[in-house]
Formats: sequence, structure tokens, C-alpha cells
Amino acid sequence: MIKKGCLIILGAFCIISSVKAEDVIKKLPEPIVSGGKPIMDVIRERKTDRTFINKEVDEQLLSEMLYSAWGISHDGKRTIPTARNKQGMNVYVARADGVWLYDAANNSLKQVSADNILPFFAQQDFMKNVPLVLIYTDTDEKYGAMHAGSAYQNVGLYAAYRNLHNVVRGMFDKEAVAKALNVKPEEVLITQAIGWGE
Ligand SMILES: Cc1cc2nc3c(=O)[nH]c(=O)nc-3n(C[C@H](O)[C@H](O)[C@H](O)COP(=O)(O)O)c2cc1C
Repeated sequence: MIKKGCLIILGAFCIISSVKAEDVIKKLPEPIVSGGKPIMDVIRERKTDRTFINKEVDEQLLSEMLYSAWGISHDGKRTIPTARNKQGMNVYVARADGVWLYDAANNSLKQVSADNILPFFAQQDFMKNVPLVLIYTDTDEKYGAMHAGSAYQNVGLYAAYRNLHNVVRGMFDKEAVAKALNVKPEEVLITQAIGWGE
């Protein structure tokens, strides 16, 4: 009898503990995907800027930057080219409210961890004010890094359009980030810090 009771309690505990980060879905606002600055202006203005102020990036801009990086724009294909259209990459967002996987098809974020992992990117002083880090991970062993390069370039152009500051960053605690994302360290390709400047 006691054994049966224990099993019921254990079962209930398993159900409760399985309702965790992975079940939290956040719908993003529709990205505005027309207009903006002339293409030659944003190509000229794209740059690394490491000065950041302590200010959030709102969800509208987040939605648009994710669309720029990895949105679906034509025939189920992405805003960047991918090898044989295998679309072998994932894009994650790290913020104070956790780590989120971008789901372009549903224009939403799926939480993969409720932890604030921004300290894993804090090796350089300017990072203390950065509210948002994009993490590019590989699901295509051959061409993943190329996809990440295209994506961070698109985001750099988007940042130039919106006057956001951004830095592509290879300097971060890869092991810790991989653990938080539940992927292999070699799958974590590169990151990009984004926020507002003065
Ligand atoms: C793959 C890659 C990794 C980078 N890693 C870092 C980094 O860890 N920290 C940093 O401050 N800048 C980093 N950068 C930014 C470069 O230093 C910067 O792009 C370069 O100085 C040229 O400046 P620009 O982007 O304004 O043209 C990285 C850039 C790339 C492409």
C-alpha cells in the first residue's frame, strides 16, 4: 500500500517537473518585412560597435532581427541561402529571462532554459550592458559556419537600419553555453551581442 502511494507521488512529481522550460512558447509580433533603409546605406553603415547602454531590445525589433537572421521568406526557404536548402542551423536568443529557440515557421520562441546565461558571455567588459545575445548552432556538419556567417551579416545590416549596436563574438564559454542549450560544444558556432548604444 505504502509502495503504491509512493509510486503515485513519484508519478505526480514527474508530471509536474516535466512542465518546465521546453513548454513555454512566446509568440513574437509580426516582423515588418518591407521598407527600411536603402540597401547601399546599410551595407556602408554596418559595423561592430562595442558601446552599449543598459536598455532592453523590444520584441518587435527582436522579431525582425530573427527574421533577418533566419526567417522564412520564400517557398519555405530562409532569408539566407543554405546548402541544398537543408537549413542546417538553429538560432537561439539568450536574455535575462532565459534561453529561447527561434521557431521561424510559427514566428515564436520556445524556451529551452529559464536560466540567465548572459554571464557566460561576459569575458569582455562591454558585455555587462548587453541585454540580448544571439547564438548560432550547427545542425549541418559541413556548412553550418557558413550559414551562421550569412545570418550574422543579415543581423548586422538590420542593426545598421535600426541604429542598434552589435558585435559578433567568438569569445564566450562554449562548454557552458552548449550545456545550457543541450547541444554538443562543437555545434555552438558563434554568437552575436545586440543592444542599444548611447
Ligand atoms: C567570427 C568573428 C568572431 C568575432 N569575435 C569577436 C569577439 O569575441 N569579441 C569582439 O569584441 N569582437 C569580435 N568580432 C568582431 C571583430 O573584431 C570585428 O568584426 C572586426 O574588428 C572588424 O570590425 P567591423 O565589424 O566594424 O568591420 C568577431 C568577428 C567575427 C567575424
